[in-house]
Amino acid sequence: MTAPTDDVWTGGIADDISRTILSAEEIAKRTAELGARITADYRGRDLLVVGVLSGSFLFIADLVRQVNLPLALDFISVSSYGDRTRSSGVVRMLKDLNQSIAGRDVLLVEDIIDTGLTLSYLIDNLRTRQPASLEVATLLDKTEARVSKIDTRYVGFECPNEFVVGYGLDYQGRYRNLPYIGVLKPSVYATEDA
Ligand code: IMP
Repeated sequence: MTAPTDDVWTGGIADDISRTILSAEEIAKRTAELGARITADYRGRDLLVVGVLSGSFLFIADLVRQVNLPLALDFISVSSYGDRTRSSGVVRMLKDLNQSIAGRDVLLVEDIIDTGLTLSYLIDNLRTRQPASLEVATLLDKTEARVSKIDTRYVGFECPNEFVVGYGLDYQGRYRNLPYIGVLKPSVYATEDA
């Protein structure tokens, strides 16, 4: 499926975006590159791709379609306490995996790593289940905001230390359906605060 062009969204949610960080085309191109690398790295192995809900839903859907292997897929959902745009590291499991990961090659797929606190918790939790290997793929990496060190095997893009939305990423539950990634206009936050 071709991604809708940015113009289709003008007059709607795109009007709330002040600046595009990554276009749908740039995301698609980079996702294909990562998919090719994953295909080469995991050939002949028991690959289980684990998507971290909800933010990674679009990235994971596009990424797995670029991986030419008989992989299995599962999802995990956690909620991270914090203020509206920053996590605290106190994490609660909302939905666990549906299957055992013992002895399997797990690739954890995230939308964005910010402080790294959420992923640190998830990695520690999943390691206790003794997977054969555990690697991380993330579409965006805000390395500047990192508090907890994370080894990322596959990174789509370095992200500026700003709050971004679109392509799965939300603000207050909205904007996940924007087909590209951008920064919200300050007026959107002002409306929410009013
Ligand atoms: P961390 O624990 O600080 O690494 O935060 C990870 C989670 O916070 C991500 O999976 C996102 O759900 C959310 N998050 C962090 N930065 C952003 C952003 O810029 N836009 C939208 N969500 C974000």
